[in-house]
Amino acid sequence: MKGIVIYDSSFGNTKKVAETIAESLKDAGLDVDLLHVKDAKLSGKRYDFLILGSPTKFGTMTFTVRFFFGSVKSEEWANKPFATFDTENPDNPDRYSAALKMAERLREKKMSEVVPALRAIVIGQKGPLKDGEVERIKGWARGLAAKLGEAAPPQ
Ligand SMILES: Cc1cc2nc3c(=O)[nH]c(=O)nc-3n(C[C@H](O)[C@H](O)[C@H](O)COP(=O)(O)O)c2cc1C
Repeated sequence: MKGIVIYDSSFGNTKKVAETIAESLKDAGLDVDLLHVKDAKLSGKRYDFLILGSPTKFGTMTFTVRFFFGSVKSEEWANKPFATFDTENPDNPDRYSAALKMAERLREKKMSEVVPALRAIVIGQKGPLKDGEVERIKGWARGLAAKLGEAAPPQ
């Protein structure tokens, strides 16, 4: 199983979430590439699973992530496992989630969601991540790794 963790980030918080997830997946024995969304578009490599993250902005994923969806071809990704994550600032009155929207888009591409979206909390617009979030993210990633292990094709 070789997968890719793709993220967008303005202030570094979603990047930190992505790095934490990638590290945890590697610790669990999975082979993972970690790429910023702008670099991911250029990658012609094929992967067995996709983990996609974005900051929540104006209630949804960033423009760059939305643009990236154009390069996610259903023929290539159908039936493959995915999970999504985001960062959110709960001071915003509406608890919209980029991760839930991205999950919807990937399900439309016939991909298979392995664990519910991770919605990480930042303090203010610029962060940092709320206390305790890194541990919660690691726990989420361990659960994700276990599910991906179950989804591995037989050798
Ligand atoms: C222009 C702008 C719009 C935002 N809109 C939302 C929003 O609708 N909901 C939300 O929870 N957070 C919102 N935020 C807070 C971002 O989610 C927060 O800045 C982001 O999680 C930080 O991640 P990053 O460090 O990876 O850029 C907004 C931030 C900016 C700068």
